[in-house]
Amino acid sequence: MTIGIVGLGYVGLPLAVAFAEAGQRVVGVDISEARVNQLRAGESYIEDIPSEQLQAVASRIEATTRTTRLALCDAVIICVPTPLTPNREPDLGPLIGASQVVADALQAGQLVVLESTTYPGTTRERVLPILEETGLVAGRDFHLAFSPERVDPGNEIHALHNTPKIIGGLTPACRNRAEALYGLVCESVVPVSTLEVAEMGKLLENIFRSVNIAMVNELSRLADRMGIDIWEVIDAASTKPFGFMRFEPGPGMGGHCLPVDPFYLSWKARELDFATEFIELAGKVNQTQPYFCVEQAERALNEQGKAVKGAKIAILGVAYKPGVGDIRESPALKIIDRLQALGAEIAYHDPFVSELKQFGLHNTELEQALAGADIALIVTAHPGINHDHIAASVPTVDFRGVTRTQRAVARPPADLPVPRVEQNQPMEVAA
Ligand SMILES: NC(=O)c1ccc[n+]([C@@H]2O[C@H](COP(=O)([O-])OP(=O)(O)OC[C@H]3O[C@@H](n4cnc5c(N)ncnc54)[C@H](O)[C@@H]3O)[C@@H](O)[C@H]2O)c1
Repeated sequence: MTIGIVGLGYVGLPLAVAFAEAGQRVVGVDISEARVNQLRAGESYIEDIPSEQLQAVASRIEATTRTTRLALCDAVIICVPTPLTPNREPDLGPLIGASQVVADALQAGQLVVLESTTYPGTTRERVLPILEETGLVAGRDFHLAFSPERVDPGNEIHALHNTPKIIGGLTPACRNRAEALYGLVCESVVPVSTLEVAEMGKLLENIFRSVNIAMVNELSRLADRMGIDIWEVIDAASTKPFGFMRFEPGPGMGGHCLPVDPFYLSWKARELDFATEFIELAGKVNQTQPYFCVEQAERALNEQGKAVKGAKIAILGVAYKPGVGDIRESPALKIIDRLQALGAEIAYHDPFVSELKQFGLHNTELEQALAGADIALIVTAHPGINHDHIAASVPTVDFRGVTRTQRAVARPPADLPVPRVEQNQPMEVAA
């Protein structure tokens, strides 16, 4: 088969490589010439795909900006971004643009699948009419499906192949066709009855995480005020072998998914005169969590009799989650912005993020960032960094709980399953 993938980012590139590894030919289309050139040179820009892995299947992946190449494909998968506008409304620009180029190349017999996270109804109400402008009829002349991506960048246990893939089709034949396609690269597929169930299923997953993270973030602020160690509370509660799932507080929510996707649903709900209060409240709590972090930094300086103005602050980890260089919506950006506005001198260390142009900052070596620092803030705990060493050398505020020493007085008895840890790190983690 030849499989077209539109949008070669965190979702599209791993998918392209997976199909190529399964022996299929891939036409990967992206509007970014820079990205296409990098792929042609065998260079990956996605952490989960080492360049060697890309190079091993390079002969089966054609990276191009030429959308007419999609006409050669048996199936075309759309993986473009679904961001919010500055007014926090769905920005379907990339999705509409991608649907248009797929329509321009559409052939009878093709399967078109949307993977981008979006509100229920998008595939039927927005994508389908664009494709049918060609005169071809969905369900009869071509197949149409929605299958949400659940990839979790940086997750070494759950990847595309072993994460069940939800699939909704416009018709049963559309769904069967998509099931066969994903069966090439996924161990299990989960067929559902409609496009809308598949679309909303993905949003439920993300809202579930957003709400639980907000709840534990709020409780962390209360525990702080009450002088209670929230981590010990969480450890204790986590020993309950049923009816509890562990979530951990952090500096706030980042990434392309959790701070964004739930608002696709609240926007759609408003059209139906329905208020999605959990989504709004969770968004509010998570968006204000970085300000709580700034307050903690101020207190740490205050204990030394110092003001924020003129203080040297080392920030450890600026990506939104460990092991990746993605800074989209990262809470570190809000924290740095606020501390700089208060007059702090910021240095950061993040092996995955070489510069933060908007702040005029570059990644500095760890020891250099710590040298002369009044305090250090652990915002994202990347693997391979000795955080205990940091905490031992500089007064440290640890928003991720990685340096806490008094862990888990209470542990589950050996014969009970250890509760699954849900950290305050947006999946997308598939998100
Ligand atoms: N990143 C994740 O972890 C994750 C997980 C699950 C779902 N998703 C969803 O998947 C979708 C894609 O996310 P992503 O993280 O891969 O985005 P990304 O920004 O990493 O990649 C998107 C790619 O699409 C390209 N692009 C944009 N508009 C285009 C167009 N009109 N035609 C062709 N290419 C175009 C961009 O240049 C970019 O390379 C989003 O809806 C997102 O919510 C993301």
